[in-house]
Amino acid sequence: MNTKRVVVTGGAGQIAYSLLFRIANGDLFGPHQPVSLHLLDLPEFETALKGVEMELNDCVFPLLKEIHIGSDPNRVFEGADAVFLVGAKPRGPGMERKDLLGENGKIFVEQGKALGKAAARSVRVLVVGNPCNTNCLIAAHHAPNLSPHQFFAMTRLDQNRAKFQLAEKAHASVAEVSHVAIWGNHSNTQVPDFHNAKIRGKRASELIRDADWFEQVFLPKVQKRGAEVIGARGKSSAASAANAALDAMRSVFEPTAAGDWFSMGVYSKGNPYGIDERLYFSFPCRSKGDGHAEIVHGVEIDAFLKEKIAITERELIEERELVAHLLG
Ligand code: NAD
Ligand code: LMR
Repeated sequence: MNTKRVVVTGGAGQIAYSLLFRIANGDLFGPHQPVSLHLLDLPEFETALKGVEMELNDCVFPLLKEIHIGSDPNRVFEGADAVFLVGAKPRGPGMERKDLLGENGKIFVEQGKALGKAAARSVRVLVVGNPCNTNCLIAAHHAPNLSPHQFFAMTRLDQNRAKFQLAEKAHASVAEVSHVAIWGNHSNTQVPDFHNAKIRGKRASELIRDADWFEQVFLPKVQKRGAEVIGARGKSSAASAANAALDAMRSVFEPTAAGDWFSMGVYSKGNPYGIDERLYFSFPCRSKGDGHAEIVHGVEIDAFLKEKIAITERELIEERELVAHLLG
């Protein structure tokens, strides 16, 4: 079996420190698929990368065939099959994710170009570094020889957070919660969709008979969960972000379970919900496991959802305007 080349940028950072070991353990491509790991970080972090490499080696993962570390994206991205663009500054307390655009946006210009030049033509790219939707737009824009549909922005952590809240409130298991969609931006305007979510196959609102809870507790809780974690840990989410990154990437390489969907920030061109067509916008998606995420059509949008979706769309358009100089 051919070895799959997996790139993780920000290889010396805290998300990578969870993600890399799980990829090497087979948590991305399964227990039979050999992988090589390609780690990118800034030149001043090469010694730290070396330490991560030593630890990966010392885990003696049978599936891990090779490790490459470096600070030149043109070399590290060579032949990449799956790329996690994690390397970017995280926000601190009191900041919004879009406050990072000025510093982080430009990283994705260089990395988009390098992906276009060096990665495998079939590469799939998941942008995790914040603000991930707009960074994804920048990266895809600079790789015009790849399809924008090969790029994804991660809203899976939001979906997982929403699922947990619903399960806890309904005294259900997380496995009994399905059809959890996040619409829009990975920001505090995101729309965790409680209208279409299901618990044990029924609408969540049939089991949780408390409209106020959905609107006044659940919605802001999920929207602000990232900030809540930062407040408690002093650092942004890491292990749960790495776990969501694996869930998200697997979602396009594995067929979606019958009757369910997953949330992903995908290129909005041709979307059936009338959203601006040049954004990475999170929709409910399904995959045949062929590397594509197809937007689910016909999801019911009530008046409440419609109003909230318009707000998150507006924010993404504003973010795009803020980085217009990087999209020339
Ligand atoms: P971290 O500071 O621990 O690690 C980031 C790493 O990226 C550092 O090692 C840094 O040197 C490296 N880096 C910076 N610029 C780089 C570049 N140009 N090329 C390669 N590497 C570079 O941060 P973290 O906690 O791992 O978070 C990384 C990013 O992920 C942040 O932007 C954070 O906000 C974001 N994040 C997103 C989600 C999500 O759900 N989408 C969840 C959690 C965190
Ligand atoms: C998260 O949702 O945990 C990340 O985007 C980190 C953050 O800044 O909240």
